[in-house]
Amino acid sequence: MTKINTITVKSPANIAFIKYWGQKDKTLTLPYHDNFAMNLSDCTTTVTIDVYDDPKKQEIKVKPYKQTDFSPAPESVTKSVTKFYQTVRDYLEMVDDIGYTVWVEHTFPHKAGIASSASFFSALALAFVSAFGQKLPEKELSILARLSGSGSAARSIPDGFTWWHMGSSDDKNGFSASSFAESMHPPDYWDLTDVVVITSQEEKKTGSQDGHGTAETSPFFADRLISVPDRLKEMEQAFEEKNFTRFGTLLEQEALSMHFVMMTQEEPLFFWSGKTVEVLKKVLDLRRQGTECYYTIDAGQNVHIMCEGKNTDTVASFFQEQSEVEEVIVNKPAVGARVIVDEE
Ligand code: DP6
Repeated sequence: MTKINTITVKSPANIAFIKYWGQKDKTLTLPYHDNFAMNLSDCTTTVTIDVYDDPKKQEIKVKPYKQTDFSPAPESVTKSVTKFYQTVRDYLEMVDDIGYTVWVEHTFPHKAGIASSASFFSALALAFVSAFGQKLPEKELSILARLSGSGSAARSIPDGFTWWHMGSSDDKNGFSASSFAESMHPPDYWDLTDVVVITSQEEKKTGSQDGHGTAETSPFFADRLISVPDRLKEMEQAFEEKNFTRFGTLLEQEALSMHFVMMTQEEPLFFWSGKTVEVLKKVLDLRRQGTECYYTIDAGQNVHIMCEGKNTDTVASFFQEQSEVEEVIVNKPAVGARVIVDEE
């Protein structure tokens, strides 16, 4: 067996300001509405693929956060990577298979509500395409990342502040070309910071995939669908004006709207811990004391706190000192997925 090539891709996690929860089309991973996010500079995943001439070689190795060694990936990860490899191959209409070892490394705890599958699958999309010796335009890479099943991965392909167009199921090739993410603003458009507050590195018990499937069962879901388009429009306006107070107010309303749905769907999903609630209250306290900052939460117990660049140190050091907090990770707006090594 001969190694032909090595490709390394680095891709950011992203934090959704207007969230994606529930799927209009489960097979194609289509959201019910457009959504909007920011790529994170310091929560990234690096995927390296060693490409072999023997297609029987299909290996995945993972180095968990803060560990020094790689170990074989759990079966669930192996399964989803193998499935996604086939999706990429079909999309590219490749005739011959490749062999691969995939090496995965995160700079943050995974499966803890910090979008590790977004950074992982966006990196994997670009890495597999490159491993097949192909190139795709950004829009198609975003479509491909979405087809991994981790829809938010679509938003980690373009740069900066990204907008995922919901698209529709009715196109002919079965991939839905109308559902993709694009950059609305480059990373340096607005000096914002996302202070990720880690209250626990524990893996969440229910993945987003299971949760999306029953979002419609919440009595609040229909109301959410009515309110999101207006909130999205207002958020877009707040971005145009760089109105941080308006942005933050909408950010918190949106996070709570999604979590009310989560908490009331069948089976209810309650991602918050007691520590989460304490952190949320402290965000309000800090704001009352004059440091403007706002929270949002994804599918996990950890909290994302948004502030303007000038308040980064105050917010980060305040939360670092709190008893509920294990660690803070300071993120600036970042570029999307990039090939960083491609060598024969
Ligand atoms: C709550 O299905 O993209 O983060 O597979 O866990 O990455 P993972 O999630 P995905 O759903 C994301 C759900 C969300 C909100 C959001 O990011 O829009």
